[in-house]
Amino acid sequence: MILIKLGGSVISDKRKYKEFREEGVRKIVKYLPKRDLILVHGGGSYGHILAQEYRIREGFEEWKRIGFARIGVDMQELNLKILNILLEEDIPAISVPPHSLFVMGNSPNLEIFHYAVNLGFVPLTFGDIILHREQGIDICSGDYMMLHLAREFRPQFTIFLTDVDGIYDRDPEEKDAKLIEVLERDVEPETAIKVKDVTGGIAYKIRVMREIANYSKVYVLNGFHPERIRSIIEGEKTVGTVVK
Ligand code: IPE
Repeated sequence: MILIKLGGSVISDKRKYKEFREEGVRKIVKYLPKRDLILVHGGGSYGHILAQEYRIREGFEEWKRIGFARIGVDMQELNLKILNILLEEDIPAISVPPHSLFVMGNSPNLEIFHYAVNLGFVPLTFGDIILHREQGIDICSGDYMMLHLAREFRPQFTIFLTDVDGIYDRDPEEKDAKLIEVLERDVEPETAIKVKDVTGGIAYKIRVMREIANYSKVYVLNGFHPERIRSIIEGEKTVGTVVK
């Protein structure tokens, strides 16, 4: 089993609302195995822009209803685009939207993934809107799904595709930023990585990756060079970060 996340910054241009990177996704899909695969995609500009505008993570208020529902629609639109590309490449993908799978605060019920995989389908889930047991509404990140799926399926490889070569020791935009080729899961990321991050995004991702490293070999690769996915699967050396 291989578990792959298509990060939001790979499949969309994060700066522009609903800007889909169709060619990039097509290229990635060509390097994916056709079975024993579970896919997760992020939100990018289909999710984060409105999620912030409507302060979804801060919980339910009446004025947020339409915004919350809109993000749900936008994510399904993005999901549908990816599904269609997968089908065109002969990958039998079926969509599993988290918001109709569970309520946040409870563990996701992953039964559907088992059934789908056993029949040779490729489940495609994603970062999504979600109802929350205490605060009413929330965002379920693709990383959260990655964590639960890795725990359940113990994939041989878990791959996070991002828009840079891997995890860097500081903001990759900075001149002296160095790629971390091996991230030891026992080293506190706060000391290894000096990235300033307003949303806590990268810190959360790294926490998730370190935990997944208990169950699987974890790689962070550049989604703009999807041939690196094949290298990993074939056991060749390539550019990226391994978390172990
Ligand atoms: C975010 O999912 C989903 C929404 C904002 C609706 P992720 O947090 O997994 O997305 P990326 O990969 O960071 O864009």
